[in-house]
This record gives sequence, C-alpha cells and structure tokens, in this order.
Amino acid sequence: MDDIIESESSDESPLASNTGIELSVLVVDDEPNNVTSLEKIFKKEGMRVVGAPNARDALEQLRKRRVDVVLTDLMMPGTSGVELLRAVKEISPDTEVVVMTAFGTVEVAVQAMREGAYDFVEKPLKRLSIVKSVRKAGERRQLLAENRSLRQELRLLTERTIIGHSPALRRVLEVVSQAAPSTATVLVLGESGTGKELIARNVHAKSGRTGQFVAVNCAAIPESILEAELFGHERGAFTGAVARREGRFARAAGGTIFLDEIGELSAAVQVKLLRVLQEGEFEPVGGRTQRADVRVVAATNRELKAEVLAGRFREDLYYRLNVIAVTAPPLRTRREDVPLLVDHFLEKFSHKNNKPVLAVPSDVMNKLLDYSWPGNVRELENAIERAVVLSRGDTLQLGDLPEAISQAQASAVDALTFPIGTPLDEVEHRLIRETLRHTSGDKALAAQLLGISTRTIYRKLGDVDGGGRGEVD
Ligand SMILES: Nc1ncnc2c1ncn2[C@@H]1O[C@H](COP(=O)(O)OP(=O)(O)OP(=O)(O)O)[C@@H](O)[C@H]1O
Ligand SMILES: [Mg+2]
Repeated sequence: MDDIIESESSDESPLASNTGIELSVLVVDDEPNNVTSLEKIFKKEGMRVVGAPNARDALEQLRKRRVDVVLTDLMMPGTSGVELLRAVKEISPDTEVVVMTAFGTVEVAVQAMREGAYDFVEKPLKRLSIVKSVRKAGERRQLLAENRSLRQELRLLTERTIIGHSPALRRVLEVVSQAAPSTATVLVLGESGTGKELIARNVHAKSGRTGQFVAVNCAAIPESILEAELFGHERGAFTGAVARREGRFARAAGGTIFLDEIGELSAAVQVKLLRVLQEGEFEPVGGRTQRADVRVVAATNRELKAEVLAGRFREDLYYRLNVIAVTAPPLRTRREDVPLLVDHFLEKFSHKNNKPVLAVPSDVMNKLLDYSWPGNVRELENAIERAVVLSRGDTLQLGDLPEAISQAQASAVDALTFPIGTPLDEVEHRLIRETLRHTSGDKALAAQLLGISTRTIYRKLGDVDGGGRGEVD
C-alpha cells in the first residue's frame, strides 16, 4: 500500500535550501512502495537519497556514507523505529531523525521525540509537509556540524591561552618559557583550580617537542592498573591481558607526559617513576626495558614536602620531580586578573550558548573583585558560565551570580591608605607587612605579589627595622 497522498500537488519546492549543500537522506520503511515513492520525491527536490527495508540495512548504510537525515517508519518487524533512532544517535550523533507514524500512534512518536528525534510526520504522508520537515532537519544538521568545527577551533584557541597580566602570573610564565625548551622535569604546585593543567600544557606548547601531550590523572586511575596504564603491558602479563598494550609513556614519546595529582601515587608506582626519571627507561608489565624520550611535568595541590615528611612520598622522587618548581598563584592574590578572566569567559560562553557577549556594570565587577575565590579560576569560570546561561538581557546582573559571590563582603585588608607626605620608607614598610599578613607570612608569595625578590623583602624589612631580620621569620 502506498501511504503517500499527493494532495497538495505543487510543482514548486516548498522550501528553498538555505545552506546550498546537497542534503543526503536515508529512507527506512519495510513497505517497498513507500520507499520508492519517497525516493522519487526527495530526488525531485535535489536531495541525495538511499532506501533501506529494515533497521539493519539502514545502519549498514549509515556506516558507509554521510547521512544528514534518516526518515524512518516507526513500526517495522525486527527492530523498531525507536531502537533504530537510538542506534543512529550512537553511530552518528549529528544525523537528524524524522519518524513516520501511523494514525493513532502519537504516543510512540512522543517517545521518539524524547529520545532525540527531530520531528514526526503522520501517515498518510503529505508531500509538502514531509519535504519541509526533512529539509529543516537537514539544514539543522548542517548548521550544527559547521558550528561544531568552528567551536572546536575556538576552543583549541581559547582554552590553551593563559589569561592574566598580574606580576605573580607573569613571573610563573617567565619561568615556564625559560624551562620549556629543556628536558628538565617541571613540578607545578598550587591550589585547586589555579590553572596547573593549563601551565603544564603551556610547558609542552613552548617546548618545541613534536610528540603528543599525554595527560594522566593519577588519582582517577585505580592503583591496581596504574602501572600497566603508565608503562603498558605484554600479552599474557596478567589475567585479562589478552593483547599487548602500549602505555602512556610510550604514547608520549617525543612529547610530554603530564602526571596530574602526583601526590596520590602508590609506593610501588613511585619506585617505577623514579627509575624513569633517573635512568630514562621503563619496563612494560611482563616486557623488556624500553628507552623513554619523554618530558615529565607533574602537578599536585597537596603539600608535597609535607607528604615527604609524613613518609607518604619518597624523598628521592620528590627531588627528581622538583627540578623546576612553579606555583600557580591563587586568584585572591592577583585580583587584577579578575576583569580579564571575566571578559575571557564571557566571550567563551557567549559563543558556546549563542548569546550576545554581556556587558559588566561596575557594581557587578566590584563584587567579582571583592570575592575571595576559594575555588580559584575554575570557580570564576563556572560562575560566568552559569550567569551567561541564566542571563536574559545584554548585561550581567548581580542576581545571575551564585549567592556566595553576590553577597561577598569586601575584605578590609586589601587597601592601604596613607596621608600625603608619608615617607616612602614607611609606605614600603607597611606595604610589605600588610602583604605578608595577606599571604599568612609566606615571603616567597609576598615577594611575587610585590614584584620583588624574597631577598629584597628581608633587606627592606631589615633596613627599616634597623637590621632586625629575625622579626619577619
Ligand atoms: N590563567 C587562566 N586563563 C584562562 N583560563 C584559566 C586560567 N587558569 C585556569 N583557567 C581555567 O580554569 C579551569 C581550571 O584550570 P586547571 O584545570 O588548569 O586547574 P588545576 O590547577 O589543574 O585544578 P585542579 O587542582 O583542581 O586539577 C580550566 O578550565 C582552565 O582552562
Ligand atoms: Mg588539574
């Protein structure tokens, strides 16, 4: 039986194509007459079309060619249209699916929509509405595909850039630039969300090494398989090792391996890692020794030195990793980076959500500047993403920010005032003291913030205090 009624006969195409790219359609129906009539209709519309009598053949076609739209019957013997829909989304997530339903089966059509179908058309089919629906689905798919590649490019560009102009961050980046071309191991320290991974990628990007950047989150991989994951294994090395498998070190050959959360390594893996760093070689589980031309960058938000003192981290490994150490400064100690980061993330998430880039009124920016950012840049990034998603107008509203931020109180320590005519020595002295208070006595960090060396801090305080160096220790 032919389900297609040419009731709205018209020689003109109901909708001209907007994208100008030939649409490719796959028609699935167990009724051969339907497939033939639909093929004719779509060909007449200038589309590329193939037919399939069942879900299995349809999936076979989908694996072979690019398909923009699958038009499928819902009730077919064997695999149903909904099952086919799921499989299509698995194999080719961008392909849109339009389902055809018999009169009175709207419930199933609704389920199909819930599972990701683009549209449904009721039988008996009308030429005009079916062409319209398939064309719209195809154009959506083409736009999505185009968008995706643009977005990916943008992501690669933006997500690798380290934003910020604070002296503290600049100093870190200077060390990175100096260290990058060598093969020295770099240890990146810092609180969660400060950008340690970004810094590690930056080391690789500036290294001139042509191999891959391979990141391993040591805390996310179960201890029992971490060794095999890092160094690989031979076939039959242990139960379940049915084939030889390359490890991450081998994959990073000529490139950089990033060992994240290094503080979580078990004692056994610490020994193996020490060997790679000392001898430049490793052994796959059950295999022969291999040379490792791999640059190692490690990161942790733990106090690694304290872990050594507590006996949980090997001291020799610590020194091997600690050849060049950089500390990603917490965001609260470099508030001058906040506006730049806000702009950067506003742009990023506006693109992602297809929204205009929001303007930031000064009261909102002040809130963002006042907040202490315990979760650092990641917290800021999440707050901005949330605000962009929630925003309705073209400005960022206080109400779009999480409460913790919109209710933030300005901290009193952050500003110093001096009467005109205060001697420079005294200004310097108080500034250094307040900064030290702010960093809880961390002189290295205070020096970073002030853009001077740690030695200068000692000297300045010594000068003003008349040589009383002991006081600041
Ligand atoms: N200076 C920066 N410029 C732009 N984006 C940044 C910057 N610092 C951090 N980010 C972004 O913030 C998020 C967190 O950064 P990252 O994952 O590098 O932090 P981390 O220190 O490794 O955190 P954790 O210790 O929790 O693993 C990422 O999305 C990263 O792109
Ligand atoms: Mg990280």
